[in-house]
Amino acid sequence: MSTSKAELYDLLATQLSSLLAGERDLVANAANFSSLIFHSLPDLNWAGFYFEKDGELVLGPFQGKPACVRIRVGQGVCGAGAAKCETVIVPNVHEFPGHIACDSASNSEIVVPLVKDARLIGVLDLDSPLPARFDHQDARGLENLVRILLSSVSS
Ligand code: SME
Repeated sequence: MSTSKAELYDLLATQLSSLLAGERDLVANAANFSSLIFHSLPDLNWAGFYFEKDGELVLGPFQGKPACVRIRVGQGVCGAGAAKCETVIVPNVHEFPGHIACDSASNSEIVVPLVKDARLIGVLDLDSPLPARFDHQDARGLENLVRILLSSVSS
């Protein structure tokens, strides 16, 4: 019997909580987060973070091929998620105006904002070679994982 998407995200939430327990450093926890996701969710070619600095998103911990280092808020899929402070699901990146192609293997993408104390601190970005890889279950599951990450680093 295969694991459903909801069961997989529940399992990942439990694993992530254990993995991050006892550590409050954002970069360390974001690094382990990206590794766990990249190696657990099927059909990803990139998973990682950009952190907001002076109106730009600067590359953080990730798994996958080397990526562009700085993205202006409002630019590309990451910048759209950051500007709206909302999760953005892109079924076909080739149809998204301003999409920034870091890995030519990417066909679909999801970006989840990181909001801490009512302030945007960055985004989680996942890319897939499959068209329409991400749906609303992924959005809710990833938003929950991001909540676990953010609560691990709050005092
Ligand atoms: N495709 C993203 C850029 C980041 S890479 O996918 C890692 C975008 O359009 O913002």
